[in-house]
Amino acid sequence: MNESRPSSMSAFWMPFTNNRDFKASPRLLVSAEGMYYKDVDGNRILDGTAGLWCVPCGHAQPRITQAVSEMVGQLDFAPTFQMGHPAAFDLAEQLMDYTGHKFGHVFYTNSGSEAVDTALKMALAYHKARGEGGRTRLIGRERGYHGVGFGGLSVGGIGNNRKSFGPLLPGVDHLPHTHNLQKNAFSRGEPDFGAELADELERLVTLHDASTIAAVIIEPVSGSTGVLVPPKGYLKRLREICDKHGILLIFDEVITGFGRLTTPFASDYFGVEPDMMTTAKGLTNGVVPMGAVFSKRFIHDAFMDAPPGIELFHGYTYSGHPLACAAGIATLQVFREQGVIENARAMQAYFEDALHSLRGLPHVIDLRSIGLVAGIELEPIAGKPGARAYAAFKQAFADGILIRVTGDIIALSPPLILDRQHIDELFGKLANVLNNLD
Ligand SMILES: Cc1ncc(COP(=O)(O)O)c(C=O)c1O
Repeated sequence: MNESRPSSMSAFWMPFTNNRDFKASPRLLVSAEGMYYKDVDGNRILDGTAGLWCVPCGHAQPRITQAVSEMVGQLDFAPTFQMGHPAAFDLAEQLMDYTGHKFGHVFYTNSGSEAVDTALKMALAYHKARGEGGRTRLIGRERGYHGVGFGGLSVGGIGNNRKSFGPLLPGVDHLPHTHNLQKNAFSRGEPDFGAELADELERLVTLHDASTIAAVIIEPVSGSTGVLVPPKGYLKRLREICDKHGILLIFDEVITGFGRLTTPFASDYFGVEPDMMTTAKGLTNGVVPMGAVFSKRFIHDAFMDAPPGIELFHGYTYSGHPLACAAGIATLQVFREQGVIENARAMQAYFEDALHSLRGLPHVIDLRSIGLVAGIELEPIAGKPGARAYAAFKQAFADGILIRVTGDIIALSPPLILDRQHIDELFGKLANVLNNLD
């Protein structure tokens, strides 16, 4: 294994990175196992973010490593256009089992962004297939993150991600976000205030007419914008309004899927079923890139009445890649056999208490959590938004913990295999960082 520093860092244009600052003082990871990364200097770094929210079963999980190794020697690549391979079908069936058969079909992509764009396209094509081709409008939500494809950016609601790339898709509107520090700060789990914000969808229906609206897409818990937990009753209300007007509801579960909230999916946690669900990340424990759209049977079946031929003109070269399928099957096995969700459930209260022990530390203006995801909002430095949290991120890494920051919010989403000592280490070191932050 190459554990030395690269000879040059110039050529790699790094994604979502302050390239100049990083290259002046890099953070280089060279290996990972269980709950820890190791950096190029041999320091152990506790993974407080499951990589990028994508490693629920922990790093270097032996069963997953073995499954991928075996598959690469057996079937390195096979197309899934007009042919297939067994693992793609096996994984799909097992995923349906994993959802308790609430969904009937799964469409593979390579990432969350592709899953989102696929789901949006499916929603448009579904209405068209049923003779409601006028339903072309897509509704997202302010502060939503749905990846970086043009569809996901258009329904997304993070200004910085959008502002350089217009024109985005026409015919898109947004619900208001639900973040309210005045009323909901320091909530545990779902905050009390804000269910009525779902009624804004009625306002959009009145404005645009239901006959023009194809789908609403939201993250059940917004992750990348800083862990925004839905107010009590909000999702149920959104579901009711969608049903009333024949609008499809898509949950983007790229972060919340695969155990993050201590249930298989957020829809299980909240008891609200979407018509489609986009996933990625934990689907393969982050080992091989893969995304997937789960759809209810009625959506899929609407395409099957067409004259014989290809039913959906959409797909990716690597849809259902054998290595990703092997990783996905092994990941589900690890979830089942090693009680990953059960462990998350057992750790949830301890994690929440540890989070709320940060109350009163310098600059902390909100703490919020649900399942094993937490947000810590800091008071911004005047005139320098994001600078305080970024400084915290750098200091935390130097102190041996990986945290994630967005604006002035710290997000924590550790692998679900953690124990109490990991929680103590994570929050102990983070408290130290916060206590010494300018
Ligand atoms: C809710 C959500 N949707 C979509 C995406 C995009 O996924 P990817 O980066 O795999 O394209 C992300 C990534 O963090 C996400 O959090």
